[in-house]
Amino acid sequence: MKLHEALNIDLNEINNEIKNLVVRDKDVPKKSLLAQSILELTGSGGKRLRPLMVVVGSRFGLKTPGRRTLQLAAAAEFIHAASLIHDDIIDNAEQRRGEPALHMKTGILSAVHIGNYMSARVIELLSKYSGDRDQYVHDLSSVATTQLCLGEYQQMEHVFDYDLTMEQYLEKSRNKTALLMATCLKVGAMSTESSAETAQLLYSFGEALGMSFQIQDDILDFTQSADVLGKPAGSDLRHGQVTLPVLFALQDPQLAPVIRSIGPASSSEDIAHVLELVKGSDALTRAEAVSQDYLSQAAAIVQQLSSFPAHADLDILLRYFAGRDR
Ligand code: FPP
Ligand code: MG
Repeated sequence: MKLHEALNIDLNEINNEIKNLVVRDKDVPKKSLLAQSILELTGSGGKRLRPLMVVVGSRFGLKTPGRRTLQLAAAAEFIHAASLIHDDIIDNAEQRRGEPALHMKTGILSAVHIGNYMSARVIELLSKYSGDRDQYVHDLSSVATTQLCLGEYQQMEHVFDYDLTMEQYLEKSRNKTALLMATCLKVGAMSTESSAETAQLLYSFGEALGMSFQIQDDILDFTQSADVLGKPAGSDLRHGQVTLPVLFALQDPQLAPVIRSIGPASSSEDIAHVLELVKGSDALTRAEAVSQDYLSQAAAIVQQLSSFPAHADLDILLRYFAGRDR
């Protein structure tokens, strides 16, 4: 069963709201390359994890979820899609979701402008959604404008930095991945007038899920085939990303010098050799344990929310993240 079915969420409603962000935009003609590119990109699938989190969050409030919740769900996907346009340019990735990445179709310059327009537009809309009592809506804008960009900047700053600390790795992962998920659950809850305490618990739940998600993503770069990943295995290593498995492998005095020798000019053979060394060490098991620890933290929060019927949806999310395979 698909995640949205297990959560009993109508994906069409969310997809329509995402489409509305483009087709109801009075400043951009529907037939323009800009509008068409955004429609194609946002219509090209994806699991809609972040919108689903907004809707799940909305089940913890006093009110019945309505249009505002759906608009926030669509905004969350828009922010995510805009960030992926930039991410694929930065990572020089040719594919996204099994299709050519946007910059491969439009050229880098156009893709940068499209990503900028999408994020600026969604921030403008979010400011329109927020009335006097809805200040929480700004949380989504501020993650988009600051945390995501900061996380990406921190990642860039530490390319091929084998002295990266665990704290720096965790902070970057929090900014780049976990805080958007945390905020989705929180703003969903606030959109139906949940208590501040419940919204905060949901935020912490989303943050823990997001950390586990990023660590899993980092592990998959070592364990999955290029077919499944949609990019060559070892891409992170090749691009100088010192991820959690690499940090653990660096603690092995025999592996450390070999890993440290990897730089921008390393050959595919050198990368493949280090990939095998890391896979043959205990680094992936240790990274998996950290990911599991975040899932346990999330499970403990579900317990605290057990008086809400919707806590069952958090369990579904938790199980999905625990068995994630992408
Ligand atoms: C995926 O990383 C990327 C992100 C989670 C965030 C990227 C953020 C930016 C590029 C900042 C710009 C933001 C806006 C809103 C314009 P990944 O490369 O680890 O994952 P992947 O395997 O899906 O590519
Ligand atoms: Mg990427």
